[in-house]
Amino acid sequence: VKDKIMTGQKVLITAGPTREAIDPVRYLTNHSSGKMGYALAKAAIQRGADVTLITGPVHLEEPKGLATFIQVETAEDMFQAVKAHVDHQDIIIKSAAVADYRPAIYHQQKMKKSDEDLVLTLNRNPDILKWIGMHKKPHQFIVGFAAETNDIMENGVSKLKAKGTDLMIINDITRSDAGFQSDTNQVILVSKKGEQQQLPVMPKSQLAHIILDNIIA
Ligand code: PMT
Repeated sequence: VKDKIMTGQKVLITAGPTREAIDPVRYLTNHSSGKMGYALAKAAIQRGADVTLITGPVHLEEPKGLATFIQVETAEDMFQAVKAHVDHQDIIIKSAAVADYRPAIYHQQKMKKSDEDLVLTLNRNPDILKWIGMHKKPHQFIVGFAAETNDIMENGVSKLKAKGTDLMIINDITRSDAGFQSDTNQVILVSKKGEQQQLPVMPKSQLAHIILDNIIA
């Protein structure tokens, strides 16, 4: 375990999926388990950081030693929680898999089915990471994740630029030993200056420490 080399540092981490309700029964979401974000939170706690974890719905235990733990459901909830806590943070790591769209209408009652096909209209959710990038304070360091299935480097690098991050963790989510749900991950780190670091497959707990090492460096 690393020494308390992050003592006094304030770290905000988002984890897990968001859930966008259609009616009281159904919702839109994705495969995020929260494992990557929780591993980052635990690693930062081990190093003595003051950690705020904002999490979507997951089946993981609250890490011990957090400064603040906030459970949210929707992308809008996560956005509000981030806005309320981001100002005094030094490091912000957005590992959450935020739903990009939500149903335009929430039906208060369970929608009745018919024999017809159903067309759902979706509205765009706020891009939380982009907002953080736009409101970044000089002392803040912002880390994003990019979950990609194709043209991995190209897409990841364009997200780094579009979202104003200092470091982007590019994830090939087509591999079974990486990305969503697995205990291991395989990523490429790309810095704002364009430095690239391709890492081998490793446990998310180990990757979390390497990501923190890169942030501190
Ligand atoms: O939770 P696990 O099962 O352990 O899986 C880990 C993971 C695959 C979820 C994680 O490693 C990961 O890649 N997280 C980012 C998933 C994602 O939403 O990627 P994206 O390429 O769609 O988004 C890029 C970045 O913008 C992300 O940092 C995301 O948090 C952020 N974003 C996206 C959309 C949105 N509306 N608001 C955001 O802030």
